[in-house]
Amino acid sequence: MEILHVSAECYPVAKAGGLGDVVGALPKVQRELGHVAKVVMPMYRTKFLAANEFEVVHKGYTHLHNYWFNYTVIKEKSNKLGFDLYLVDIYGLLDREKIYGYGDDVERFTAFQIAVVDWLAAWRHQPDVVHVHDHHTALIPFMLKHCYAYQHLNSITTILTIHNAQYQGQTGMDKTVYLPAWDVWKRGLLEWNGALNPLACGIRCAWKVTTVSPTYLEEMRSHAAGLEALLEYEKGKCSGILNGIDTVVWDPATDRYFEDHYDGATAEEGKLKNKARLCEQYNLDIKKPLITFIGRLVGDKGADLLPQVIEDSFYYIGRKMNFFVLGSGLPEIEGKLQAIRGLSRGDYNTYIGYDEGLSHLLYAGADFILMPSRVEPCGLNQLYALRYGTVPVVRNTGGLHDTVIDYGDKNGYGIRFNHATVGDMTHGIWRSVELFQHQEMLGDIRQRMMQLDFSWETSVRAYQDLYDRAKSRK
Ligand code: ADP
Ligand code: GLC
Repeated sequence: MEILHVSAECYPVAKAGGLGDVVGALPKVQRELGHVAKVVMPMYRTKFLAANEFEVVHKGYTHLHNYWFNYTVIKEKSNKLGFDLYLVDIYGLLDREKIYGYGDDVERFTAFQIAVVDWLAAWRHQPDVVHVHDHHTALIPFMLKHCYAYQHLNSITTILTIHNAQYQGQTGMDKTVYLPAWDVWKRGLLEWNGALNPLACGIRCAWKVTTVSPTYLEEMRSHAAGLEALLEYEKGKCSGILNGIDTVVWDPATDRYFEDHYDGATAEEGKLKNKARLCEQYNLDIKKPLITFIGRLVGDKGADLLPQVIEDSFYYIGRKMNFFVLGSGLPEIEGKLQAIRGLSRGDYNTYIGYDEGLSHLLYAGADFILMPSRVEPCGLNQLYALRYGTVPVVRNTGGLHDTVIDYGDKNGYGIRFNHATVGDMTHGIWRSVELFQHQEMLGDIRQRMMQLDFSWETSVRAYQDLYDRAKSRK
């Protein structure tokens, strides 16, 4: 079966979060299991682009309403990622350094989607499945069904994966003029609550819809940022398939971002060496447990609570732990995390920004990773942490619920708390400090965690089954 993934991110080409990790790994494993899996994404001006060789496979000319543009599709030459990678270049729109965050993101991603569909129309053969990810690519199922120029593509099976329903790409209905001539009787498919809502449109038009964990699918029935009724109506075609991890990129025995490698048998020494490196570099106390947070500094991740939690932990539990926060996001959270550096007595530090290498070193060197997410459709940090022998301290929600069992429960290995509140989080930290004092028990938990299997194979088979059902219209 031939699957074309369409995405805004793909590691190592361009990554802002877990979407990039998933799209960099899933096609690789699909390929290993005998499929033809390809990825097409925008050609941002990234380091990957400069460092690799490409060939031009298609040049086209199309339009975003009355703005006509040339686009070029290039293909990476050496199969570096383990699957065919295609990049779409649109001069003036996609040729930027960052993935998101520009005032014209609606125009950028709509033009990208139009170019992808236009390229598909010009291709001599068709993929069996077009698998789109999140709202940036969610208008494609509509275009394949209802844009006149692409009617001959309407038998291609389309799958939408929702990585996070909090982000829907809503914009004004006036922007519907951007789409290539479409059947005006289908206007209702584009609209949700008076706005053009690409995610809602994708949910309606894709043949099947998935999200990235079974519990998040369940949670979306009551918490889907306004899409609850739509998801209830379309529930027959929705399923929850848990993400896996790329076990080659994320392996403490071979990780290319740090030197002191380790496996289950050498975890104690290996982790300690990495911790020593971090403690020296960031002026932390190696004798105390190192509790880290890695991620986007936004409310959904519970990052706004971190400054108070750190202060309260020092005050109520005592100076018995180190904290290190790696992240970027809302300026007010970034500012507070920088400001509380003043509190540190060699037990708190932060790096505000995005640093892939530092994140790997933290998974390796930290003792605990804190994930107080209000919303977590799957979460990959806890899966990386488990593989690196770092105990996840998580809020019991979404994918965190599906992957972390509290060590107080049968076969457990993590620390779970119920509410994204300062009190619950501080209690989780107190339990981490207590566990750290029982090194033997911590060692056993570490062994259990490192043996867990969150590789992609099971999920790839679930996607396979879903593609088959979609194709046979079951
Ligand atoms: P989300 O996609 O919602 O941000 P995930 O847990 O699925 O959350 O994935 C986050 C990914 O992004 C992980 O690979 C994590 O290590 C990485 N990441 C997040 N913030 C940073 C950062 N500031 N520096 C390096 N890596 C980061
Ligand atoms: C989203 C979600 C995260 C998930 C990731 C990959 O960004 O917020 O929970 O792990 O997508 O599916």
